[in-house]
Amino acid sequence: MSVVISPSILNCDFGHLADELAKISNADFAHVDIMDNHFVPNLALGLPLAEAAVKSSPIPVDAHLMIEDPDRWAPVYAELGCESVTFHAEAAQAPIRLAREIRAMGRRAGLALRPATGIEPYLDILGEFDMILVMTVEPGFGGQPFIEAMMPKVSRTRRAIEAAGLDVWIQVDGGVSRSTIEKAAEAGANNFVAGSAVYKADDAAAEVDFLRSLASK
Ligand code: DX5
Ligand code: ZN
Repeated sequence: MSVVISPSILNCDFGHLADELAKISNADFAHVDIMDNHFVPNLALGLPLAEAAVKSSPIPVDAHLMIEDPDRWAPVYAELGCESVTFHAEAAQAPIRLAREIRAMGRRAGLALRPATGIEPYLDILGEFDMILVMTVEPGFGGQPFIEAMMPKVSRTRRAIEAAGLDVWIQVDGGVSRSTIEKAAEAGANNFVAGSAVYKADDAAAEVDFLRSLASK
């Protein structure tokens, strides 16, 4: 399974959004975090910013919706041009219906799990999604430490995907850096979101390449 690197722009310089996105043109997706101060205790980004990212990004946009009522809002992000739209299992009323709606619009549908949410209720419906996001921090903020205890969940998910013969990506998000990405790759993740590791590096593009090489071993 190919390695996919998706830097999170949560802590980039929004005064120079196009320049910040241009720095990661060697990555696969620009990960855009949407927070509503209800599902998570933080308010960040939203439709206008996602739209600006879609317009100015050299690579496709991966929207991570940390919001209540994704059943209403996820299709709007798909419609405005986000290539991948991930909503949280804990917030969705009808995850299968919602994933089908996103896919019918030609976008990739992702299902995200908070650290305390198990994959087990979703094992029989993995094929409804293009990606499972196993959060490796409590969603809400960048710069938190990686929760290594999530690795067994990643491995269980990978085994179930393989047993079912599916092509579903596993994304990890939170605390992914030079010191943690290999553990996540070994557990079975293939899509890596890194925010502070990329945007705090002196050379963001070089950091993307370095993370990709570590995950590809
Ligand atoms: C956290 C967000 C992440 C965040 C990652 O809730 O979903 O995408 O930006 O930031 P780092 O890589 O700094 O943990
Ligand atoms: Zn995220």
